[in-house]
Amino acid sequence: MASTVNSPSVLTSLPVPCVQTSLLTFKKKQPLRFASKRVVSCRADNGEQNNADSSSSSSVDRFDRRDMLLGLGSLYGATGLVGDRFALASPISPDWRRGCTVATAMDGDQPGKSVHCCPPGNTKIIDFELPRVRKIRHRPAAHLVDCNYVYKFELAMEKMKALPDDDPRSFKQQAKIHCAYCNEAYFQKRPPHDDPDQKLRIHFSWLFFPFHRMYLYFYERILGELIGDPDFVMPFWNWDSPCGMAMPEMYVADPRSPLYDELRNGDHLPPNLVDLNDGKGANELKDQGIIFGNLSKTDQIRSNLCLMYRQMVSNSTTSTCFHGKIYKAGCGSSKDDGCKPEPGGGAIENGAHIAVHKFVGAKRPPYNEDMGNFYSAGRDPLFYAHHANVDRMWNIWRTLPGKDRHDFRDREWLNSSFLFYDEKKNLVRAKVGQFLDTEKLGYDYQKVDIPWLESKPTPRWPRGGQLKGGQVRGRRAETKEITDFLVLDKPVRVKVPRPKRSTTKLEEEDDDEEEEEVLVIQIILVNRNASVKFDVYVNTEDDETPIGPEHSEFAGSFTNIPHGMDHLDSKLSTSLTLAISELLKDLDAKDEEDIEVTLVPKEGAGLIWIGPIKIDYCT
Ligand code: C2O
Repeated sequence: MASTVNSPSVLTSLPVPCVQTSLLTFKKKQPLRFASKRVVSCRADNGEQNNADSSSSSSVDRFDRRDMLLGLGSLYGATGLVGDRFALASPISPDWRRGCTVATAMDGDQPGKSVHCCPPGNTKIIDFELPRVRKIRHRPAAHLVDCNYVYKFELAMEKMKALPDDDPRSFKQQAKIHCAYCNEAYFQKRPPHDDPDQKLRIHFSWLFFPFHRMYLYFYERILGELIGDPDFVMPFWNWDSPCGMAMPEMYVADPRSPLYDELRNGDHLPPNLVDLNDGKGANELKDQGIIFGNLSKTDQIRSNLCLMYRQMVSNSTTSTCFHGKIYKAGCGSSKDDGCKPEPGGGAIENGAHIAVHKFVGAKRPPYNEDMGNFYSAGRDPLFYAHHANVDRMWNIWRTLPGKDRHDFRDREWLNSSFLFYDEKKNLVRAKVGQFLDTEKLGYDYQKVDIPWLESKPTPRWPRGGQLKGGQVRGRRAETKEITDFLVLDKPVRVKVPRPKRSTTKLEEEDDDEEEEEVLVIQIILVNRNASVKFDVYVNTEDDETPIGPEHSEFAGSFTNIPHGMDHLDSKLSTSLTLAISELLKDLDAKDEEDIEVTLVPKEGAGLIWIGPIKIDYCT
């Protein structure tokens, strides 16, 4: 029988009216249409064309052949990179034969810590097959379940924790999966003629959503197997909704519960609400005249909802902006020209996702276990509920009204694969292309309100620069140009020209096909084990008036939490791409020749290097 979750049709709205929201319905989706003109793809900085295709993505292999042809013709031919470049363009997968190495976790210049996160050996790999789906199971919101559900979930977790350590399905082994894939225990299966030692990474790229989806899928199957309930579903932490913004009760209420974890930040327990903008680090800049107060409860909720709107709706208008940038086998090797091992994450990965990790992780220098560091995050049962909500965002994103939001169709993405142990201890190879549609995997999410859909930020400053009565302009940083690198140790203001667009392009455009204008910070360099955050504002009047996610001027942010390194001063070299079309409209800046971008360090000031910033138009 189904788990004890109420049938999804019953729980369509929040039982406790903690804020006034209407139950939102989505507009019917526009049919897929693609621009006939060629436009620059936002997906990578290496000049590739977006090979969008209007067919659906049911067959992984179909794309192989199609993209081969495309690859030879327009994709690489256009940029004159046929030879080596083509050899490099293979999907990512771990090189199982080379085995798994010791992973490392370090913090700043603290001595490293070796972590053993390899799974028990097994050489027989079978290919994952989609399950036969009898009915769709709905993962429930963690704050809405009843005690029967909690009992069942605890029972399953208890059994998982009781498995012997060398059982690949045990709690310990399952936690190690995150460490192994995130902290560089695996080598990439290597494309011909490539450097031998490329490590596999799954954050800050287009692998982020699918990898974590697979991880949770197998985890849930194992829990179901252990209690003999194939219909078991795990809960999601509904942190994007007012009633779900505190850590869910069942994880924190009882230290004897298998859902409990000691290594969490005691200052952040309920009734504290998560700060999805992770403003905590802000105070360190007080000396420089920047003051960020602690928010009241209602302000915190509003800030979180506006942040969700920004990240899910206006920042995530293209596949890259949502999923993250292209990452293929060989990216980062000496032969690659442009693609990086952690090329740049999407808005949710960079934003709310990392903020929640930091919110939960203990204040325990130097590693901030468990949730505050990727090597240990999987040891907290709450990790899986957090990532279930991240996974739910992927489902929601694809159905958002307005722009056509679709997944990538590149074979290198669809064929990227990872290895997991299934509920029967089989080692299976699962491909990204098999994990696009959760209904084919047999699950979906309980339908709950999505209040952030209507939480659109509004301008902080009046349009046209006219101050209203009582408004005073504060200090402004001088406007800089970034030609090379700049150390971000205090707020910096950069004038960024908007490239001219041809009038034909403008005339051809109707609303649906409108190209997205994106702000690209082309290089961000931080120590991979530094905790950093900076915010990006557009056209603010000064640097003293606090700007938050509730303001249109807030374009987004970049965050990093410590995650593995294979040598001492390993740097994360990544980028940030923020879609800003809607923001510019809201700020009445659509006709301006340039915009002023302000970067404000919130954590790790002085440890962040910024490269040139530009604006692109893309689909
Ligand atoms: Cu793999 Cu939330 O991180």
